Amino acid sequence: MLDEKMEQALNDQLNAEMASGYLYLSMATYLEDKELPGFANSLRVHAEEELEHAMKFYDYILRKDGSVVLQAIDTPKREWDTIVDIYKEILEHEELVTSLIHELVDLSIELKDHATNQFLQWFVEEQVEEEELAHDDLRKVKMSIDSPQLLYLLDEEYGQVTNNSENTSEE
Ligand code: FEO
Repeated sequence: MLDEKMEQALNDQLNAEMASGYLYLSMATYLEDKELPGFANSLRVHAEEELEHAMKFYDYILRKDGSVVLQAIDTPKREWDTIVDIYKEILEHEELVTSLIHELVDLSIELKDHATNQFLQWFVEEQVEEEELAHDDLRKVKMSIDSPQLLYLLDEEYGQVTNNSENTSEE
């Protein structure tokens, strides 16, 4: 049985993960319009991963006999000045998500909810990875500012990104 406060917080995080996916999908459509299909592909994959994160919360709430309450998802931003701005925003967004996950962990400790604390540990590690990747992407994109050749090569590289978690039951 979930504490009411925890049930609400898990539902809020389900919504935040959906909103992350919506934001990254919006960035993907912007990059498609800018003729950068490789970058668009990697953000589309990232959006799919966010939906998977949301579903982990969905499944966990149900396993704990809680109620899933779906909430409205804000219309995402559609325009950015530069591709660097997109990748800066991704890093800032992931830092925000990390802080939300840490707040959930704090709540699980406060409520002595060991099961939810254990469930959240996957997300704690995932956020370390997400921030690391976001830093790396931003560094690469910044280097391509004055080099169309590098931007082209990066677009080719990002075009190869696939969703590794699609075929596994764990991720
Ligand atoms: Fe689900 Fe990128 O945080």
